[in-house]
Amino acid sequence: NLPAKVKLVDVGPRDGLQNEKAAVPAAVKIELVHRLQDAGLTEIEVTSFVSPKWVPQMADNAEVMAGIRRKPGVRYSVLTPNMKGFEAAIAPARALWPDEIVVFGAASEAFSQRNINCSIAESIERFRPVVAAAKAHNIYVRGAISCSVGCPYEGEIPPERVELVARLMKEIGVQHIGVADTIGVGTPLKVQRAMEAALRHYAIDDVSGHFHDTYGQALANTLAALEMGIWQFDTSSAGLGGCPYAKGATGNVASEDVVYLLQGMGIETGIDLDKLIDAGKFISDFLERKPNSRAATALLNK
Ligand code: HMG
Ligand code: MG
Repeated sequence: NLPAKVKLVDVGPRDGLQNEKAAVPAAVKIELVHRLQDAGLTEIEVTSFVSPKWVPQMADNAEVMAGIRRKPGVRYSVLTPNMKGFEAAIAPARALWPDEIVVFGAASEAFSQRNINCSIAESIERFRPVVAAAKAHNIYVRGAISCSVGCPYEGEIPPERVELVARLMKEIGVQHIGVADTIGVGTPLKVQRAMEAALRHYAIDDVSGHFHDTYGQALANTLAALEMGIWQFDTSSAGLGGCPYAKGATGNVASEDVVYLLQGMGIETGIDLDKLIDAGKFISDFLERKPNSRAATALLNK
């Protein structure tokens, strides 16, 4: 069942940086995006149009989107939790619009409240006009389901909850579903159950995995999803990441590690690992820390 090709969405500029306490200048974020596209990434999650009171690091969203030199064939996605965010994302000229927006809900009520200040049912009502408006503007709509296997507040989350949110998202027209292990507690069989739940409402080509690596399981979970035929994953340059509203969550699985895994398995990504490592090193140097990627560390020390 292994796919021959995999698409990675590097969420480093968004998920990777959103939790950084010190402001990262827009120019640095833009340079990271440029390096990622030069390394062959075909989709980059650039920023989020959320409340700057909630996530100060993303307050420069419009500046970052305006500063990117767009590369043909690359998709630029942004998070838009409500109409206010969507309207801000499309306020500038069309050339600066995102190609794709992400509405983000959760399989856990408690996490939904903490992260986006509303219940699951309310979140769907907030997303409904966003999805309609995005489609009317020819912008693709992805949905993220946080806490698909576990929640920092509710503990283990059964697959039925993932299925419910996938169904609600499908009903309002969300085109693609990202199954997210926000706090990295998942293990391969649990992740497969969560994926199966999403697959009840979405085709295999419309489901992706988004795995944080808190417990060191993200690569194993990636392989478990690959074995089901899932071929799209969110990963983060240098393993950066974390959600400010998910206490204890660490970074996303490192893009470098996933590319190393896929290359070793003969699965095509279109990504140049050396250039990807350079991109991760660039942002890690800026943050004055070592890349949180085993493959990058090994190859940089070779
Ligand atoms: P709220 O307070 O319920 O919103 O926040 P509200 O509509 O009541 O508005 C309150 C204030 O926020 C108003 O301003 C609005 O204008 C403003 P005030 O009048 O007080 O000055 N506001 C906004 N400002 C800018 N952009 C907006 C926006 N909306 C309202 N879009 C809201 C609701 C969703 C906005 C808030 O809870 C929020 O911003 N949450 C963001 C949470 C977040 O970004 N979390 C991290 C991303 S999700 C994630 O990391 C998980 C993921 O990686 C997958 C995984 O790993 O699980 C995707
Ligand atoms: Mg995340």
